[in-house]
Amino acid sequence: MSLDQNLNKILIIDFGSQFTQLIARRIRELGVFSEIISHKKLNSKFENSQIKGIILSGGPLNVYQSKKVKFNNKIFKWKKPILGICFGHQVISKELGGKVKKAKNREFGLAKLRRLNKSKLTKNFFNKDGSNNVWMSHADEVTKLAKGFKVIAKTETSKFSIVENLSKNFYGIQFHPEVTHTKKGKIILKNFVFSICEMKKNWLSKNQKKLLIRNIKNEVGNSKVICALSGGVDSSVVAKLLHNAIGNQLTCVFVNNGLLRKNEEKQVIKTFKEKFKINIIYVDAKNLFLNKLKRISDPEKKRKIIGNLFIKIFENYAKKIKNVKYLAQGTLYPDLIESKSVTGSQTSKIKSHHNVGGLPKKMKLKLIEPLRLLFKDEVRKLGLELKLSKEIVLRHPFPGPGLAIRMPGEITKDKIKILKDADYIFINTLKEQNLYAKIWQAYAALLPVKTVGVMGDNRTYEYICLLRAITSEDGMTADTYNFSKSFMQFVSNKIINNIKGINRVVYDITSKPPSTIELE
Ligand code: XMP
Repeated sequence: MSLDQNLNKILIIDFGSQFTQLIARRIRELGVFSEIISHKKLNSKFENSQIKGIILSGGPLNVYQSKKVKFNNKIFKWKKPILGICFGHQVISKELGGKVKKAKNREFGLAKLRRLNKSKLTKNFFNKDGSNNVWMSHADEVTKLAKGFKVIAKTETSKFSIVENLSKNFYGIQFHPEVTHTKKGKIILKNFVFSICEMKKNWLSKNQKKLLIRNIKNEVGNSKVICALSGGVDSSVVAKLLHNAIGNQLTCVFVNNGLLRKNEEKQVIKTFKEKFKINIIYVDAKNLFLNKLKRISDPEKKRKIIGNLFIKIFENYAKKIKNVKYLAQGTLYPDLIESKSVTGSQTSKIKSHHNVGGLPKKMKLKLIEPLRLLFKDEVRKLGLELKLSKEIVLRHPFPGPGLAIRMPGEITKDKIKILKDADYIFINTLKEQNLYAKIWQAYAALLPVKTVGVMGDNRTYEYICLLRAITSEDGMTADTYNFSKSFMQFVSNKIINNIKGINRVVYDITSKPPSTIELE
């Protein structure tokens, strides 16, 4: 699934490390294109002149579990520079005649690395005294070097922490340069990419835009494309990118399910229809959704009802546009990477996520996923390059089922109104106080409990508003954001003073895990 046949790249062979995506991101941050492929999928056909270097990732396996670690070891004959990281370092040693064993002393966390020899790979990496702190996470170790390799650096417990075979251009490192805990780790990757693989920068937002537009034009030709526009970052970038590439051949369908943030539908129409002149079918389905959700409290039922109804409505409207051949989706790179399956473990279903993934099979449309090789931060940069406003591009993620899953219990018109207003005040206050960009996701929720309060000498009996604000890398794990007490008091007062129906505000301080980001 290469992006462009002429685009040089670093190929990352994934052995299932939780950090593989991070390696790809670090390389792209250097302005160089990188692609990940599972070790199971790598075959000789994959070799091509666009690969300028190869990185073998870390992984949870042991190199001596030979059945599980099957991979095409012909890469060592491809005459390309290779860098093995952690498990990848052990793979190189084992494949080329060295030995790997369970380590006497496992190394987890920070370790002090000491330089023994100079190398192109470590230029500017060590401190003046020849040391550096690096982050380790391994239970196995290389115990005998393969022929032709020499040691560049060691730690107290790991004598082959950096090794190289200069004549073959192969390098192995036991620590993780891609994580921020390794000081100056990016320098190792930089040296590998620019000095050893001799690559030039080829991955900048401007080039990406041109390339993606050219690819869309080539793929779509004169056909028509439909796109479900939600107003979120990914679908907004997809819509704008497609519009730049194929203009009026694109029609977006925007379904207002009544569970959007305050004024969201107005903003979407204003931006995409009025400003960018994109064809949009606006579907007001507020009552339809509300009716179907009447007296439903179970979170999974809510999710299913919303997801199915959305698909039905979208299908109906899509059918009305003649000669549509493609359905555009905002699938991102992390959705496609299979690293999690390497260990064979199955993650249990926590929530049924709602997106438009169910559509193509039913509708017999071809899928077009222009963002499929991009990470979220790259999508945001591309959005700015496409002249989308910062407000759209930098906005927090918003779930498909919308406010329905921020309102445990039954959904009513009154509750939706209260919640929209509370959320609006919270988010606007974050923006006013320059906190919005520091937070990965924030929102207000409405708990289905009423408590007693006192306002102006009168007793009140109203709902509890819960505020949630988290920091995260990718939504998989999250920490709560630490607000000052004065901020919390300020926002709490503002919500209670302005919204009838809420007389108590609480802040959710649980991380993920054990909680999830959304309430349902
Ligand atoms: P949880 O609640 O699972 O959320 O910790 C993780 C991230 O995913 C978002 N989320 C969704 N996004 N459709 C989406 O497109 C959904 O059904 C959905 N449910 C949760 C959530 O907002 C958070 O960013």
